Formats: sequence, structure tokens, C-alpha cells
Amino acid sequence: MSVAARTPSTTASVAAEPALEGRNLTKYFSVKGGRGIFARRARLCAVEDFSIALSAGTVTGLVGESGSGKTTVARLLAKVITPDLGELFIDGEPAPRRRPRSYTAQVQMVLQDPFSSLNPVYRVRHDLVRPLRIHHGATDIDAAVSDLLRRVALEPPERFANKFPHELSGGQRQRVAIARALAVRPRVLLADEPVSMLDVSVRLGLLNLLADLRDRDHLAILYVTHDIGSARYLADTIMVMYAGKLVESAPSATLTDSPAHPYTQLLLSAAPDPDRAEPPSLAGSGAPPSLISPPSGCRFHPRCPHAMEICRREVPPDVPISSGHVAACWLHVDPAQRRVGSNGGEAPPEDGAQHRPNPAGGSPDREHDPMSSTIHEEG
Ligand SMILES: Nc1ncnc2c1ncn2[C@@H]1O[C@H](COP(=O)(O)OP(=O)(O)OP(=O)(O)O)[C@@H](O)[C@H]1O
Ligand code: SF4
Ligand SMILES: [Mg+2]
Repeated sequence: MSVAARTPSTTASVAAEPALEGRNLTKYFSVKGGRGIFARRARLCAVEDFSIALSAGTVTGLVGESGSGKTTVARLLAKVITPDLGELFIDGEPAPRRRPRSYTAQVQMVLQDPFSSLNPVYRVRHDLVRPLRIHHGATDIDAAVSDLLRRVALEPPERFANKFPHELSGGQRQRVAIARALAVRPRVLLADEPVSMLDVSVRLGLLNLLADLRDRDHLAILYVTHDIGSARYLADTIMVMYAGKLVESAPSATLTDSPAHPYTQLLLSAAPDPDRAEPPSLAGSGAPPSLISPPSGCRFHPRCPHAMEICRREVPPDVPISSGHVAACWLHVDPAQRRVGSNGGEAPPEDGAQHRPNPAGGSPDREHDPMSSTIHEEG
């Protein structure tokens, strides 16, 4: 099946209040910097001033290179780690302190590696029974287990319930991991690279399962990936991170058809395309910066083909490009407003936003869905 055939889901079902929201999240990690006797503790800023809203019945794609902070955002939202700054809200209300059971019952994470996420000594049934009992005290356990397995398309359920993880394929294990997350009846699913360790032949089936959970069960889903093509396929909205910061967000088709930020343009130019034998590699344009001492101004400026003097000195403001489309880039600010000291990295200058066409000279060729060369229907 060609992935280009899938129609993106409607966003008409978006709830008024986001199911889960992170506002101005910042996370530092203490790491060892330097070597030998010069080694000392240093502070690494993995995520800075990052805001995100996940609404029922929508998938939000979070895209960026390795080390850009995607998993840290997911872990912050799951309350596995605590932000140094910023707050979480559930249905518009401040989230509880710590991570009570009531929180994990609403917000579940699905991890990248289906091979280590299931205990090899237990049958599938065991993995599902525990959350069913703890969170909901389900009485007809067998019926509840069968229902979960059917929801993730592992049928007949009796056959899969009695299997050990080593008897399952990678795709089937990931379906069990998703079933386990669904057992607590969450409203938010944080899926961190859920298909990246799977064979390309089974990825599309898993993405379609996530799309079904959005459409059928109205889940709010965060889809973390480094593959912008798969985000375009699945997500309603895409957010692009670079070096711990949000650089662009927009409805999926808008972002991939008319990327406004040079980094998004770079990601798209390196995405697989059936018309190109060899896409340019991201590494060819330089590497992401150190998060211990990131570049001044725009963090992307050492790699940016459009970098200007102000980019080296001032943090770019978030500039509205079109409805729901925002890019943090000086190229989209009126030249008359691009004065050093004009922003301070806080907000766009008043009336300074200039809605310009793609500054890199037009959208990358999106005639072919970049997914079509990487993902195939599950066999
Ligand atoms: N517990 C930790 N202690 C120290 N540094 C950390 C910790 N967790 C993450 N980091 C650092 O924070 C930065 C962001 O990491 P993160 O895992 O969020 O990136 P990512 O975008 O998910 O990358 P990938 O695509 O490789 O999974 C990286 O520099 C990483 O080394
Ligand atoms: S702000 Fe400047 S350096 Fe940063 S992406 Fe825009 S043009 Fe490039
Ligand atoms: Mg990660």
C-alpha cells in the first residue's frame, strides 16, 4: 500500500481545552564536561522554554535530529522527570505535583525499543493483567485482555495472550506495548520513536494503528520521530525542534509543503524521496551544537545558509507566518525591525512580522510523499 493514499485525519474533532499542555518547559541536566583532571560538572540545557498542547483526537508530531530534546519533552510530559522551569496542565488545570497513579492513568508512554520493553519471562497476558487490575480492578480479566489485543489487531487474542515476547515479531511486541499502555484507559499517549526500531515492512501498520487510536478512541497522541516524512503521514500538527528549542510548528501539510525555517527546509531536503537515489545527508551541513555552551543568537546560525549578523547576536522571535504556522527566524521579520537589541529573545517586535514566502527559494519538491520510500504496509 502506498502511504500517499492515506488522507490526513480531520482536525475538526479538536477539543477546546488541550488534554495535556506543557508551558515554557525548561530542563537542565548536570553532565561531566572536559577530560581528566580538567573534568568538571557542567549544565546542559536539553529543552528550553518549550510549549506544547496535545488535544483529544489529534496527533502532534515532534521532529528533530538526534539530541534535539524530543525524548526529554516526552519524559517531561509523562512526569518521569521534573522541569526546572515551566508547568504542566491537564484539561487546563495545573497537573498534580509528583506523579500520582491518577496521572499515569491518563498519560502513558510507549517507548522506542519493543525488544526491551517486555519482560521475557512473562507471557503477554501477564503484562496486560497487571495494569488492568491496578488501575481499574477489572473483574472479567480474560474478556478485558482479549479486548485489548483486538484493539491493537493481535487476533485471535487467545493465541497472542499466551505467547512469550521471544515468540513475537518486533511489530507484534510494539502492539503489545501499546495494548499495555491502553490497559489503563489513558487519554494521552506519548509515543517516542515507536516505529524506528522496526523493520520498514511493519512500520506503516503501526502508524495506522496510532491513527486508529486517534480517530476511534479520540486519544491525544504525541508522535516523536526523527523522520519528518512519517510525521507528515500521521500527524495533524508538526513541531520541529533544534538544539532544545522549538524552531517551527504548523499543520503538517503546511509545514512540509511550505517550510519557513531553514532547519525545517534542511530536514525535508534530507528526507527520503523515491526520485532521488541519494538524499543529501544532514551531516553534510554540519552538526548540532553543544547544549552546554550553545551558539549565541539563533542556535542554527553556524549551519544556516541564510545567517545574518543579527542571527549571531539575537535570539529570533516566534514569527507568525500563517494560521497556526509559527517560525523562530529573523528572515521573517521586517528588515527595518531587525535591529540588534530589538528582540531580547522574548517576543516578536510589534507589527514586525513579515509573512514571506519560503526564503530558501520555494518549497522543496513535495510531489512525492517522502514516506513512500521508507514505509510499507505490514505483511
Ligand atoms: N539523563 C540525562 N542526563 C544527561 N544528559 C541527558 C539526559 N537525558 C538527555 N540528555 C541530553 O539531553 C539532550 C537531549 O536528549 P534527548 O534524548 O531528549 O534527545 P532526542 O531528540 O530524543 O535524541 P534522539 O533522537 O537521539 O533520541 C542530549 O544532549 C542528551 O545527551
Ligand atoms: S534566524 Fe538567521 S540563522 Fe537562524 S534560521 Fe533564521 S536566517 Fe538562519
Ligand atoms: Mg529520543
